[in-house]
Amino acid sequence: MRFKHPLPSRLPGVRVGARVVRDIGLDAGPRLAVQAARASVARMRRAMDRAVAQSPQSLFLRELMAQPGSVGAICASSPRLATRMAEQVDPATHGLVVELGGGTGVISSALLARGVAPERLVIIEQSDALAALLRRRFPLVRVIHGDAAELAQLQIQGLLPLDAAGAPLPIDYIVSGLPLLSIPLPVRQRILQAGALMLAPQGRLVQFTYALRGPSPWQIGGLVRLRSERVIANLPPARIDVLGHAAAG
Ligand SMILES: C[S@@+](CC[C@H](N)C(=O)[O-])C[C@H]1O[C@@H](n2cnc3c(N)ncnc32)[C@H](O)[C@@H]1O
Repeated sequence: MRFKHPLPSRLPGVRVGARVVRDIGLDAGPRLAVQAARASVARMRRAMDRAVAQSPQSLFLRELMAQPGSVGAICASSPRLATRMAEQVDPATHGLVVELGGGTGVISSALLARGVAPERLVIIEQSDALAALLRRRFPLVRVIHGDAAELAQLQIQGLLPLDAAGAPLPIDYIVSGLPLLSIPLPVRQRILQAGALMLAPQGRLVQFTYALRGPSPWQIGGLVRLRSERVIANLPPARIDVLGHAAAG
């Protein structure tokens, strides 16, 4: 460090040189500067975490940067898309409505607004941070931090809600916001198998996709497409497919 005015050659009670500098605390400068920088980085981190906690979209973006393939979208679904997805569900159903890939909860919220009972709704979300957000947003809904490909195991492990007699409830609806086309093929195949296996015989699977043309991946999983519609009011425009088992078509 260079001083504009050189240190006096003698200071009261201390020797001149490096030891003077040490005794009057001048070599603490760089150490204090590092501590101050660390503290301000920690303050900035805490501020970012607070901002992310208050803004689901910031959290969504953070998760997108951390896991682009599994989040698979630049922003959460629009309210229009979420409402149209929810409208495919009969809220009076006695079985479960299982949402795959809840994200920040746009579709979950539309399902609840549609009248689906919170205790009949199960959300499976693989991002720890997003699952925590969903639990905070929907305290009455069963939010499972897990992999959609493990749907059958989740039921075997008793993690899905049961009926009054303790028996598994049928899964009448699967509502999926999973970005199937960007999920690696082996995982995608396991998800498709699990969904087709667990959907009740008369059940319906609702999936949105940004691929406006072509078959739904769920058809490869053995389901048949019953109807489709486009939702232009979304970024990017999307297609909703409703599928079921062949025999129930
Ligand atoms: C395109 S975002 C959709 C989020 C929300 N449903 C919406 O429409 O805005 C996909 C979500 O699926 C989740 N996801 C991806 N792969 C998953 C898996 N195998 N199991 C459960 N969730 C998964 C991601 O973490 C992300 O939250």
